[in-house]
Amino acid sequence: MQKLIIKGKRELSGTISISGSKNATLPILAASILANRVILKNVPLVKDIFTMAELLNFIGLKIKFIKKKKIIEITNKEKNINTLAPYKLVKTMRAGVLVLGSLLTKYRKARVSLPGGCAIGSRPVDLHLFALKKLGAKIKIKDGYIIAEAKRGLKGTNIKFPSVSVGATENALLAASKAKGKTVLKNCAVEPEILDLILFLKKLGTNINIKGRTISISNSKINQPNISHEVIFDRIELGTFMIAGALIAKNSLTINKINPKIINSEINILRKVGVQIIKKKTSIIIKKKRNLKNINIVTKPYPGFPTDLQAQLMVLLTQVNGVSKIKEDIFENRFMHVPELKRMGALIEIKDKTAIIKGPSKLTGAEVMATDLRASVSLVLAGLVAENRTIINRIYHLDRGYEFLESKLRKCKAKIRRV
Ligand code: EPZ
Repeated sequence: MQKLIIKGKRELSGTISISGSKNATLPILAASILANRVILKNVPLVKDIFTMAELLNFIGLKIKFIKKKKIIEITNKEKNINTLAPYKLVKTMRAGVLVLGSLLTKYRKARVSLPGGCAIGSRPVDLHLFALKKLGAKIKIKDGYIIAEAKRGLKGTNIKFPSVSVGATENALLAASKAKGKTVLKNCAVEPEILDLILFLKKLGTNINIKGRTISISNSKINQPNISHEVIFDRIELGTFMIAGALIAKNSLTINKINPKIINSEINILRKVGVQIIKKKTSIIIKKKRNLKNINIVTKPYPGFPTDLQAQLMVLLTQVNGVSKIKEDIFENRFMHVPELKRMGALIEIKDKTAIIKGPSKLTGAEVMATDLRASVSLVLAGLVAENRTIINRIYHLDRGYEFLESKLRKCKAKIRRV
C-alpha cells in the first residue's frame, strides 16, 4: 500500500489550481444515462470518477476518457442496457446508488446494490427510496439489493423530504426529470453540486426551477442529442487549500480556477478565525497571518459550514489561540481523524458530537493512518505544519477525491512525496 511522506514546517508559496468537483461529476455521470451523447469537461481524474465510469460501462454506456484534457465522452446507444448496479462497484463508491433514479425513470426498472456504510457513518438510503416510492416506484430490498420498478413509468407528485439529504435530492431530481407531469420537491439540499446537476438536466430538456429549498421539475419533450457541460470547481478542495494557506503560507498563497461567490460561508468562517482572504474574480489569495483566534462551529447543510471541511478546519483550530468547538451535526462518526491528530500532539477532547480543541498545540510528525477521504487530507495538513516527518498510511482514501494533491503542494514548496 502506498504512503505519503511529509517533511513539516516548509512554508507554502505560489499558486494552486483547483480541479473540477468530484461531488458534482458523480451525479452528472448518473444523469448521463438519460442523454444520448455527453461531453463532460473539467472532470477530476480521481478514483471515484473511474469507478462511476466503470459502473456506467457495466450498464452498457460507452465511456471515453481524454485524460490530458480532463474530458469524458459518454454515449448511450440504447443497446444491451443492463439496469444493474452490482455490489462490487457500489460498495466502495456509494454514489453509485445515484444511477437508481436515472435507470428507473428511463428504463422503468433497476437493481442497485445497497451502498452499505463507511467509516463516517451507516449512510442509509431510506430518503432516496421514500422519494422514489412517492413517484410511483415499487421497491423491495432483497439480498442486499434495491429492486425497483415502475411498469407504467414514474408520475410527478409533491414530495417533502423529512430531512435534508444531498444524495436523496439528487436521486429524486434524476427520477423526476423523466416522470410524467410535474414534481415539486421540498426541503431539498441545495449544495452548488446540486445546482450544477440542475444546469445539466436543463440542457437535457428538463424544466427545473429552484426557490429556496423547493425545486419544481417537469419533463419537456425536447431532447438534446449531444450535451456539453463543464463541471464546477471543487469547493471542498478549495476550502482544504485555503486552510493549508492559513496554516503555513510563507507570505501568501494564491488559489485559482474558482468562483469565490460560491464559498462565502467558508470564507466568512475563516475570516472569523482571523485568516486574511482577498477575493478576486476567479481566484483568492490567503495572506500569512499570526494570532488567529478560536471559534465555535456546527456543520450544516449548504450554505452552512460543510461537514466535508470539518476535519481540515480542526487542524487549523489546533494552531489558534484559545479553546474552539466543532459540532459534527451531519454524520454520526466523523471524528476518526481525532485520535491520529492527538498522536501528533493535538489537544482535542470529544464530548458527544462535539470536538473541543485547545490551541495552540505543538504538532510533531508521526506515522498515522487515513480512515476516510477528508480525514486523510486533514492528516496531510497536520503533516505540513508539524515538526519533522509525518508518514500517512492507507492513502487510497485520499486518491478517491483529491486530484494530484502532492504535486499541487510540491509546486508550492511543500516537501511531500508518495512511496
Ligand atoms: C454527500 O453525501 C457527499 N457525497 C458527501 O461527501 C457529503 O459529506 C454529504 O453529501 C453531506 O454534504 C457525494 O456528494 C458523493 P447526505 P450523501 O445524504 O448524499 C443521512 C465526501 O467526502 N441520510 O446529505 O450521502 C446521512 O446518514 C463525501 O466527498 C439518511 O438518514 O449525504 C447523513 O447523516 C463524504 N437517509 C445525512 O443524512 C438517507 O436516505 C446527510 O447525508 C440519506 C442520508
